[in-house]
Amino acid sequence: PVYRSTTTAPVNIAVVKYWGKRDPKLNLATNPSLSVTLSQDDLRTLTTASCSAKFPKEDSLTLNGEPSDISGARTQACLRELRALRAKLEEADSSLPKLSELPLRIVTENNFPTAAGLASSAAGFAALVRAIADLYRLPNNPTELSVIARQGSGSACRSLFGGYVAWRDGTQEDGLDSKAVEVAPASHWPEMRALILVASAAKKGVSSTSGMQQTVATSGLFKQRVAEVVPKHMATIEEAIAKKDFASFAEVTMRDSNSFHATCADTYPPIFYMNDTSRAAVRAVEQINEKAGKTIAAYTFDAGPNAVIYFLEESAAAIVGTFYKVLSATEGWKDEAKSLSSEIEL
Ligand code: DP6
Repeated sequence: PVYRSTTTAPVNIAVVKYWGKRDPKLNLATNPSLSVTLSQDDLRTLTTASCSAKFPKEDSLTLNGEPSDISGARTQACLRELRALRAKLEEADSSLPKLSELPLRIVTENNFPTAAGLASSAAGFAALVRAIADLYRLPNNPTELSVIARQGSGSACRSLFGGYVAWRDGTQEDGLDSKAVEVAPASHWPEMRALILVASAAKKGVSSTSGMQQTVATSGLFKQRVAEVVPKHMATIEEAIAKKDFASFAEVTMRDSNSFHATCADTYPPIFYMNDTSRAAVRAVEQINEKAGKTIAAYTFDAGPNAVIYFLEESAAAIVGTFYKVLSATEGWKDEAKSLSSEIEL
C-alpha cells in the first residue's frame, strides 16, 4: 500500500522579530519572538507526504513541481526526529505497520514566491512536519511538533498555530524548551487584518540564516536589542494583544521592525533589506496615522523589501486606498508587484 497524508501550513509574520541564534545547528534563538499567523486562504504551503515499500529506496522532495534537495541538514533533522517518534509507536504496538522504515515522498507547493522574504521557509517546514506527523499518526501536539519544525527553520515553529504565537527561546542546551505557544487564537481579535505589499518578488540577497549570523558576530547594537529592547517589546505586545490595544500593538510592531533593521545596518559589512519602495511604505503609514489623528496602521519588514501592514477592519478603506495611491506613484513599484499585493484576512 501507499500511505499518504496532505496538510497545509500558514505563513506567519513576526511583530517581534527572531534574529540571531545561540545554537545554529538546533536553530535556538538568542531572543523570544512573537508573530501573527495569516489566513491559509491566502498564503500557505500545501504538502503531501507519502511512504511505501514500492517507492525508490531514497526519500524524495518535490518543491513547486521541481525535484528538490532533501539531503540538507535541516530537512534531515526533521525527518530523523519524526521517524524516531514513529519508531517508538511501532515498538510499543507491534500491530502497527513499520512506516518509519519506508522511503518518504514529499510533494510541496507554495502559492506565493519562494524565498522572497515572504516567510516561505516558515510555512514550508511547518507543513513538512505536520504532513509527516499526520502520516505517522503522531499525537497532534503543535507545541511538541514546533520543537521539530524549529530545526527546519526557526520561524517555522510559529506556523504550527493560528492567531498570535510566541516562540519562547528557552535556556536548555538540547532546545527542548525552545518552542512555540499560542498567546491568543485568531478569534480573540478577529478584526485584525494584514496587507502585504510586494516591493520585489525576487529571491532575497542575504538569507536570514547567514544574515543573522553576521549580525550576532559583528553588531554591538544587537547586544542591546537582545538584552533590553526585545524583553520590553515582548511584554508590551503580549499585554496589547490581551487588551486588544491596537495603538500599543502597532507601536511595538513598528519599533521592533526598526530595531531589527537597525541591527542589520549595524552589522559589518552592513545588510540592507529595505529599499526605496519599503521606505515609501513607511512614510505612507506615518501619513495615514497622522491624518487619522491616531495609530491605525503598523508596518513591519522581514529579511526583504516587502512590507506587511497590520490594521483593523474598521480602517480598511483608508489604508488600502492610501497605499494604492502612494505606492502606484512610487517609482520602483512594478505592475507585477501590484498584482501580487492583496488584503489578507487573518
Ligand atoms: C526576519 O526562520 O528564516 O523573518 O532559522 O535560519 O531558517 P532560519 O531563519 P528564519 O528567520 C526569520 C527571520 C525574520 C524574523 C522572524 O520571522 O521572526
